[in-house]
Amino acid sequence: MHSFSYVNGILRCEGVDLNEIANRFGTPAYVYSSATIRDNYQRLDAALSPLDHLVCFAVKANSNIAVLSVLAKMGSGFDIVSGGELFRILKAGGRADRCTFAGVGKTREEIAFALREGVYSFNVESEAELARINEIAGELGLVAPIAIRVNPDVDAKTHKFISTGKSKNKFGIGLDRAAEVYEVAANLPHLKIRGVQTHIGSQILESGPFAEAAGKLASLVEKLKTTYDLEFFDFGGGIGIVYDEALESGSPAWWKQDGAPPRHITPEDYAAAIIPILKPLGLRILFEPGRFLVGNAGALLSTVQYVKQTPAKTFTIIDAAMNDLIRPALYEGWHEIVPLRQSSEEKNPMDVVGPVCESGDFFAQDRALPPLKSDDRIAVLSSGAYGFVMSSNYNSRPLLPEVLVDGGHYNLVRERQTYEDLVRGESIPH
Ligand code: LLP
Repeated sequence: MHSFSYVNGILRCEGVDLNEIANRFGTPAYVYSSATIRDNYQRLDAALSPLDHLVCFAVKANSNIAVLSVLAKMGSGFDIVSGGELFRILKAGGRADRCTFAGVGKTREEIAFALREGVYSFNVESEAELARINEIAGELGLVAPIAIRVNPDVDAKTHKFISTGKSKNKFGIGLDRAAEVYEVAANLPHLKIRGVQTHIGSQILESGPFAEAAGKLASLVEKLKTTYDLEFFDFGGGIGIVYDEALESGSPAWWKQDGAPPRHITPEDYAAAIIPILKPLGLRILFEPGRFLVGNAGALLSTVQYVKQTPAKTFTIIDAAMNDLIRPALYEGWHEIVPLRQSSEEKNPMDVVGPVCESGDFFAQDRALPPLKSDDRIAVLSSGAYGFVMSSNYNSRPLLPEVLVDGGHYNLVRERQTYEDLVRGESIPH
């Protein structure tokens, strides 16, 4: 679900008029709905309730400490990929012993930090990494809990940049070599084998690839269980979301057409496909959803600067750019765009673009939208995952503010950067 809807022709997030947020903090700005995050968490948690499970939010999707705190209070664990993400979890009141630490390139410093804080598991991606973790644990007089990330060679049927479970991807250890690498781990004195991990990709909209990966991994886990004292199986993330919210027609995000198959995967579809395969393992099952929990919970507010008519197209130039939300430029990601003031005027095709000097700086191409003019405000929906976190200072544009709505209230949870922030830490040599 999401909590962005028109009330008396004005777009609201929960109980808050988005114009109020735009007036107060300016645009562009990110806005997140706490209610949506909580609802998504509860819905997934409930769907997975037949399993002894732990939902570990993939922090890379949205790492604002206020968002992390909403999830920590729900009892969420966290999937982290850097020392910086662990630092954020601790700041947000999350627990290190509910964190899995993933990533192909963990540095010595990151490993030592995570060991000292006591993370639940290192999800290890290579033999070289096993050796390094073992060495550092030995130096610190600690034992490192580990799981090996296994690559099941499954086609996740998603964009090639976010598909990770094929053998040609850089991630994990192949199924055929997994048993051998577990043996290597078992012989390293400062490691404790705690589990098995996999992740096949992101924005996956069918349950088939999940069921296939679960099946392949379940056979391996059963075999490993006969030798090692396994505590958990971590099934990764990847549940896709609806980007086309059909907000104006009022259709709910998870709607199904009469009699037709679901347009997108639901938490219940996901759970139904994998629970029969994972439950018999008798282990604790971890999940690492990122996008599912926060994607539909966020919007990027922006103001139209100019409308430029060329013989070929209408360009609506807004004050947000590819440096603020890179998904359209990088993955041709489709985000619904709606005016803050609802319009019944006839829609016409236009390109919605930012001010950055690149043709890839667009939010929508040939999109049918109602007429827009200078100073009109719009919202780019479903920007709560991989939005702000992937932003940069390209073109010396300050990073955006983030606002968290909860019911009828809202708080600025990150300030807009200033020009001084842009040059902080830089210097001119004498
Ligand atoms: N676990 C692991 C090991 C991952 O690599 C990822 C995402 C997740 C969990 C969370 O996946 P999710 O549930 O969010 O699909 N920037 C791209 C997505 C990159 C995903 C990277 N890994 C985008 O904007 O579409």
